This record gives sequence, structure tokens and C-alpha cells, in this order.
Amino acid sequence: TGYVTLDPGYVNTGACTSAITYIDGEAGILRYRGYPIGELAEKSNFLEVSYLLIYGSLPTRSQYEEFADRIRRHTLLDENLKRFFDGFPRDAHPMAVLSAAVSALSTFYQDSLDPLDPEAVEISMVRLLAKLPTIAAYAYKKTVGQPFLYPDNSLGYVENFLRMTFGLPAEPYVVDPVVAQALDLLFILHADHEQNCSTSTVRLVGSSQANLFASISAGIHALSGPLHGGANAAVLEMLERIKAEGGNVTEFVERVKRKEKGVRLMGFGHRVYKNYDPRAAIIKRTADDLLARLGKSDELLDIAKELEEVALNDDYFIERKLYPNVDFYTGLIYRAMGFPTKMFTVLFALGRLPGWIAQWREMVNDPMTKIGRPRQVYVGEPERSYVPIDER
Ligand code: CMC
Repeated sequence: TGYVTLDPGYVNTGACTSAITYIDGEAGILRYRGYPIGELAEKSNFLEVSYLLIYGSLPTRSQYEEFADRIRRHTLLDENLKRFFDGFPRDAHPMAVLSAAVSALSTFYQDSLDPLDPEAVEISMVRLLAKLPTIAAYAYKKTVGQPFLYPDNSLGYVENFLRMTFGLPAEPYVVDPVVAQALDLLFILHADHEQNCSTSTVRLVGSSQANLFASISAGIHALSGPLHGGANAAVLEMLERIKAEGGNVTEFVERVKRKEKGVRLMGFGHRVYKNYDPRAAIIKRTADDLLARLGKSDELLDIAKELEEVALNDDYFIERKLYPNVDFYTGLIYRAMGFPTKMFTVLFALGRLPGWIAQWREMVNDPMTKIGRPRQVYVGEPERSYVPIDER
């Protein structure tokens, strides 16, 4: 007792065992439940991957249909929860709204919050998966002042979300299959990434036996920071700044290397990957493909590619093994789809949800689980005596 190993940022500390996601950061390998990410991205879909992450194996056709059907039947928000959106200011950040609404879900489903009751967990998982796209779409509608659309349950998961986001009540909205397919792919690529900051937050909050909604709400806040999920928005802001300043990529890289305050190459570097992030490779191809299929071009994509090229050939980045991560090219895809920058991290949250749920559920079912409670090394004052206020 009394002996504490100090590990700021938990660089070397394992906090759990997990059978969900495997990463080999040196080799650039990522697998969900043993399946390589590239294969899932090519052949699966987001709901199937969600099932895989949560339950551990690919569903049979009937298991898949039952799962999809249960989710479809829970997409509506309670009308009282819908009214919460009225209270937020129009310029509220959609990540804050997302987290607040998820937190509020616990007030509507008080009969099914017990993390130790498997049936309660089951229905909570379904509710969350079903309602998060509705909440996300309403968070967007709020920012543009447009009316909220009820879910259309004849549509698929991603199609329904796109319609609630971009559709209007007065006119029929036809979902572009190219956009839906690309978004589904991005959701698969974001679905889990073992013990990252937000997932560890979900587990830590859940380790006190707080309910699933409370744990996920906390995870959304953890994701919002620019060093984590918020990086996808920060990348776009960085590209826009470079463009506004004349598009001089080399000069920007020099500023990064000088470590000017607040200047980092956003979308580069990773705690675990010391090689090309396998997700970034797929996303780069998707960005090219989507822009071509939508018949769009984007000067920011050219800047991003140039930036990558310069960085990958520069000693600073080579020595530190800094490669593009998942966030480097996603913003350009979201932008081509019509999402404003503020929504980018919300899209990350929609994709990461099944991973958070799977990790929370694994933790709840693990007999090794204890409340998370890190130690510290105290560096403050030794004991001293209280001085009355007039004598200080
Ligand atoms: N630009 C410039 N230098 C960097 C960068 C970067 N993006 N990332 C790391 N470095 C340098 C850092 O300055 C340090 O150099 P030195 O040894 O001279 O002090 C070295 O590389 C090691 O970096 P670190 O900060 O100790 O690494 P970390 O594991 O603590 O941080 C990171 C990982 C992802 C927070 C960091 O690379 C970063 O801030 N990247 C930019 C933000 C970003 O893209 N985040 C998304 C991460 S991936 C998906 C997700 O989690 O959402």
C-alpha cells in the first residue's frame, strides 16, 4: 500500500480485458470481433456491425431482421423530450444538445435503468440506437430553424437520419443512395476503437453502476474535444484557414514544426497507430469517390492531399510516426454531403454509439469489473495549521 505507479494519460495502463476490438498500432491493423475493418467496410452494413460489436457474432438473417425491426419501432422521441429542443438557443452546439438529450432519456425510461437487469439493458440499448439519429437530426434542425420531421420507418437507418436532417415537410425528400452508402460506410469505420477517451469515459461512469444513458451522455462530452472526435471539425477549420491565408501548405507545416502555440496538424497522429490508420486509407478513397460521384470538386481536398504529402515526407512527422488518422478526410466527405462543420462530431457519435454500448455491456457483464478509481501522487502542502482570516 502507498505505492502508486504514475501514468498520466494512461499511456501504459490496461484498465480491462476486452474481446471486442483488436488494434495492432505498429502494423496498422484494426479488427472488430476478429473481422478485418476493410472486409466489414466492403461487405457489411452499419446495423449488422452494431449487432456484431454488441453480441459478438454476425447475425443470422432472422436475427438481423429482428434487431433492425426493434430499432425501427423505437425511433420516435417522446413529445415532451422533443420540447426540450425549444429551450436551447439556436446557436447551441449540436454535441451539447446531443449529450443533454441522451441524458434526458433517463428521465423518460425510469423503469428500465438498472444496469444489472439484462432485459432493462436490452431495451435501453435498442432505444438509444433508435433515438440517437432522431436526436441528432433535431439538433441540426434547431440550428437552421426548420421544423422537425418525424422518422419514416419505411426507410433504412442511415436513410431515415438523412431525411430527418435534410428533408422538409412540404416536399418529398429523395435520399441519394450514393450519400447514404458513404455515410453507412463511415459509421462502420467509427463504430468502435477499443479504450479511447470517450469509450473509457463510458466505462468509467458505468463502473459506478450509473445507467446506460448517463454513461453514453458522458461519452458524448468526452468525444467533443478537439483532440478526440472534435478533431474532424478542427481539420476542416484548419484547411479553411490555410486556404484563406493563401493556400501555402509548406508554411503551415513549418509553423506546426515550430510548435507555435495552438498549431498542430489536426487529423494527424494517434496514441496507438504508429503506422497509417487503416480507416484513414479507406476514408481517403471514399472522399475521392464521393466527390467524383456527386460531380463536385473541393479545393480543400486538394489542400488536404498536399498537406498529407508534405507531412509524410518530413522528418518531424517521420521521426514521431505521425500519420493521418480517421478524422483527416472525414470532414471533407461530410461537407460534400451538406453537413455544416458543427455537425461533424455528432456524426462521429452516431457511428461510435454501438461501440460504446458494446463496451459498456461487456463491462457490466464482466465479473472482474470494479468501480474505476485511479490513484494519484499528492504533491501539495504538508500539514499546516489554520490561520484566522484577519491574521492572513
Ligand atoms: N501535429 C504536430 N505534432 C504532433 C501531432 C500533430 N497532430 N500529434 C503529435 N505530435 C507530436 C507531439 O508534439 C509530440 O512531439 P514531441 O515528442 O516533440 O513533444 C509527439 O508528436 C508525440 O505526441 P503526443 O501529444 O505525446 O501524443 P499523444 O499520444 O499524447 O496524442 C493525439 C495523440 C491524437 C492527441 C495527438 O496526435 C494530436 O493532438 N493529434 C491532433 C488531434 C487529432 O487529430 N485527434 C484525433 C485522434 S484520432 C481519432 C479520435 O480519437 O477521435
